[in-house]
Amino acid sequence: MKGGVRPDEKEKALHQTVSLLKVRFTYPMKTRTARNRIGHRTAKSSRISSNGNGRVQAKTQKPGVSPQLRDWLSKPKHNLIGGKWVPAVSHKTFDVFNPAEASVIARVPDSDKEDINRAVAAARRAFESGSWRRLTASERGKLIWRIGDLILEHANELAEIESLDNGKPRAVARVADIPLAADLFHYMAGWATKIEGTTIPISVPYAPGALFHAFTLREPIGVVGQIIPWNFPLLMAAWKLGPALATGNCVVMKPAEQTPLSALRLGELILEAGIPGGVVNIVTGFGETAGAALAAHPDVDKVAFTGSTEVGKLIVKAAAGNLKKVSLELGGKSPNIVFKDVGDLDTAIAGASNAIFFNHGQCCCAGSRLMVERDIFDEVVEGVAEHAKKIKLGPGLSADTQMGPLVSEEQLSRVTNYMHQGKQSGACYVTGGSRAGDRGYFVQPTVVKDVKPAMTIVREEIFGPVVIAEPFSKPEELVARANQTEYGLAAGIWTRDISKAHRIATELKAGTVWINCYNVFDAALPFGGYKQSGWGREMGHEVLELYTQTKAVVIGL
Ligand code: NAI
Ligand code: MG
Repeated sequence: MKGGVRPDEKEKALHQTVSLLKVRFTYPMKTRTARNRIGHRTAKSSRISSNGNGRVQAKTQKPGVSPQLRDWLSKPKHNLIGGKWVPAVSHKTFDVFNPAEASVIARVPDSDKEDINRAVAAARRAFESGSWRRLTASERGKLIWRIGDLILEHANELAEIESLDNGKPRAVARVADIPLAADLFHYMAGWATKIEGTTIPISVPYAPGALFHAFTLREPIGVVGQIIPWNFPLLMAAWKLGPALATGNCVVMKPAEQTPLSALRLGELILEAGIPGGVVNIVTGFGETAGAALAAHPDVDKVAFTGSTEVGKLIVKAAAGNLKKVSLELGGKSPNIVFKDVGDLDTAIAGASNAIFFNHGQCCCAGSRLMVERDIFDEVVEGVAEHAKKIKLGPGLSADTQMGPLVSEEQLSRVTNYMHQGKQSGACYVTGGSRAGDRGYFVQPTVVKDVKPAMTIVREEIFGPVVIAEPFSKPEELVARANQTEYGLAAGIWTRDISKAHRIATELKAGTVWINCYNVFDAALPFGGYKQSGWGREMGHEVLELYTQTKAVVIGL
């Protein structure tokens, strides 16, 4: 077993993730050492490990990186432009960190406007040459399908990269992020042959007696800039690349500066799949330089962005120069509502824990506002706090890790600042509330109650494992309170009363409503935000609207 995930480890993680996504949030894995897990590890000891009560403690061994990944990491990392791997024009690079240790694992190009110019020119050449959009739809679909296959063939390796770079448990990446990314390409491959226009009977009142044949074509938009975040690096790349390719566009993608590695590996697989050079260009760099240049570029026809609402607004402004099309998937402060008629309280408690703690709370749709009917409030809050206390923190590469570090020092400081602000404003911390350990970017899974609507922690997206619990007594006031946020990404409802669930689902201003489940995603399900959570829907057939434009053609007969 070289660098992969052992079958029993995978099975346990699958069980954990499936149950975590649906109803339960249990961690059935037994502790194993890094040595008996993969047989490769460095001798150096690490101060990061877990004692199973939401704290990291000293003394365990540093989990190993597989020799294959070490080998891949040791090779110079370049941008993918026009089918070739090239350094930044400036030859500048920046450090990529392992957030579990705050250690440098690679250096990637620190690209700027000039690199973006070259990548956009390459994408433009590929688009105008027709090397992609004029392939038969069937041929395009097969190549996109092949990307999905290659992701599955390299699933262990990609899961390891994702875990090392982002901090998430490798086993979770292996059963969630990687298969979901592959599935997205497989799903979108099928759409390549199904992008159809319509024939339209027209009447033309000022041309009596004239005959016309009128129809629509759905054409690619052209050169698309895609700016993606760090919370699900490979999966977010897939969400954006899959539909862009299925519809015949050419792409310049900028991964997040915190997690550029899986996008670079994906670029290698995309070339291996046989996608023509220049169709997908990948440029690493910072938001303020490479990202801003891409969003403002006059020869980019559309920009698709996932990240903070603050930067989403900057993208809109930057796009105004040439009025490029814009789609945005932004922040959230999603209510997760538990009624006293939920039936199985343990299931609801597990579901509420999963809703906030999955991916360390670094989910735009995290159920970060837990609204519980007053009669069961104490029991639910205690239950979620018990789950929080049991979560094992540790490096993503350790087999027994259940929650890794936050992605960066910046996020550590952002989340701990929110924790601090909440305490200062008088909220009660049932559990957690601070950094965990003194190395890496770990924080304690945290449950907060006794809050007021005006508090910052109640209004703003924290993007960490911090849930704000509030009781409600009057169901008639509930919807207004749940909707009392500038965001509208997701919501959860837990009840056995199915008509109440349907009624409330229609009243919630959210792009996704989960009833008696949470965090259920599928390539076929559209995902996106109401209000300031974004513009447009990703996934499903709805996303195809974002990557095509309609041309009406009229023939006089
Ligand atoms: P961010 O919005 O700055 O970063 C997301 C992407 O945008 C990255 O690729 C970044 O390089 C790029 N970017 C940043 N500034 C840009 C600019 N001026 N022009 C073009 N591209 C730019 O998010 P950040 O700073 O990493 O995280 C801050 C907060 O954003 C988080 O605490 C969280 O609340 C939210 N966030 C939401 C995500 C989501 O899935 N909706 C994902 C990541 C962050
Ligand atoms: Mg930023």
